[in-house]
Amino acid sequence: MSNTKEKILELVKQFYKENHLKKDYQTGDRITYAARVYDEEEMLNLVDSSLEFWLTSGRYCDKFEKDMANYLGIKMPVLLVNSGSSANLLAFMTLTAPELGERAIKRGDEVITVACGFPTTVTPIINYGAVPVFVDVTIPQYNIDVSMLEKALSAKTKAVMIAHTLGNPFDLKAVKEFCDKHNLWLIEDNCDALGSTYEINGEKKFTGTIGDIGTSSFYPPHHMTMGEGGAVYTRNPILYRIAKSMRDWGRDCICPSGVDNFCKHRFDGQYGELPKGYDHKYTYSHFGYNLKVTDMQAAVGVAQLKKFPTFVEKRKHNWARLRKNLECVSDKLILPEACPNSDPSWFGFLITCKDGVSRTELTKHLESKKIQTRNLFAGNLVKHPCFDDMRKNGEGYRVVGDLHVTDYIMNNTFWIGVYPGMTDQMLDDMADAIIEFVK
Ligand SMILES: Cc1ncc(COP(=O)(O)O)c(C=O)c1O
Repeated sequence: MSNTKEKILELVKQFYKENHLKKDYQTGDRITYAARVYDEEEMLNLVDSSLEFWLTSGRYCDKFEKDMANYLGIKMPVLLVNSGSSANLLAFMTLTAPELGERAIKRGDEVITVACGFPTTVTPIINYGAVPVFVDVTIPQYNIDVSMLEKALSAKTKAVMIAHTLGNPFDLKAVKEFCDKHNLWLIEDNCDALGSTYEINGEKKFTGTIGDIGTSSFYPPHHMTMGEGGAVYTRNPILYRIAKSMRDWGRDCICPSGVDNFCKHRFDGQYGELPKGYDHKYTYSHFGYNLKVTDMQAAVGVAQLKKFPTFVEKRKHNWARLRKNLECVSDKLILPEACPNSDPSWFGFLITCKDGVSRTELTKHLESKKIQTRNLFAGNLVKHPCFDDMRKNGEGYRVVGDLHVTDYIMNNTFWIGVYPGMTDQMLDDMADAIIEFVK
């Protein structure tokens, strides 16, 4: 390392200590639902990468992709992308590739999903011209009601694409069996559940690795962050190859950034109707995007991933403490419950107000006490303005059943944080504020 770089990195450490150390929490301070948890390591990696000035995906990206695959217990590296929404887009578009033959999702095909969640789990389905088929969810797990799966099935169904809500795995056994039985793809939106595990056929696996493709988000409130960022992962080498191509402009070539002729066949192949020997670097086998991350984002991710197992433990601890403290008001509030056979890495603590308790008044009370609250994202996505045209014309989506639980959640549910930077005092203060209101 050059002397100048050493000096800069020393100064970064000092800067971190002078500017980024958090003050100890005192009762009455603001409690956010999420926050970045980091130390000097993230800042050192970031500055190191910026001094290197490679800028696009490079060595930190490679390292992250391998380290995360290692963490998840999958062989192929994960594919880093620039957001969780991009990860969902890439996962979905991968399943539209023509080489998947009969199983490729085509326009007009149906994908079973839920309306109670984050919009970008559903957006890629609609934007492509496939049809989301919405079924209800259950309380207190806030995940798909698996008893609706067979009812939602049609001759056009090609996939199930759903999230593990706020870290709580959906009933993977039932959903996977349904998908296997009907030869359907399963996309696990794992953006809010990194680190959750589920025991299936006697084996404990990470969520996101049980279906065909999993996705993650690294936006700041999430389980770990790189500012903006996301990942796509799969155990299927064909899907991996398609996803990598679609992430990287749709190209056929697998040369890493800055490398030419990695496969030594740059000028001797024949593809499509191109002349023999046409430069493989500019040969496109898919209609793709550029969804890559910068190496500076990945550099932050590398440092976060090292800390990640401790984040997961802390999230579990925080959720369990809230759960215990709030048990005394379970006659007024529905408290969350983990899916059987799972060990969730919780993203938040979901609460549904029973009849007689107003969600609006309770969240107003908490916000007045500087406790940040969140709704379960869209509540019921179908009721949003983005659906106005489709609702009016009665086309573009299907609803199976009446989504009454989804509507109940839209009106009565909210959540508070369990992020790893929370102290026991913060958790106790949140619980006390809730108890004070409902008692
Ligand atoms: C379940 C789920 N999927 C996808 C996303 C999108 O992630 P990003 O914000 O990184 O685009 C989010 C964001 O919070 C999410 O909660």
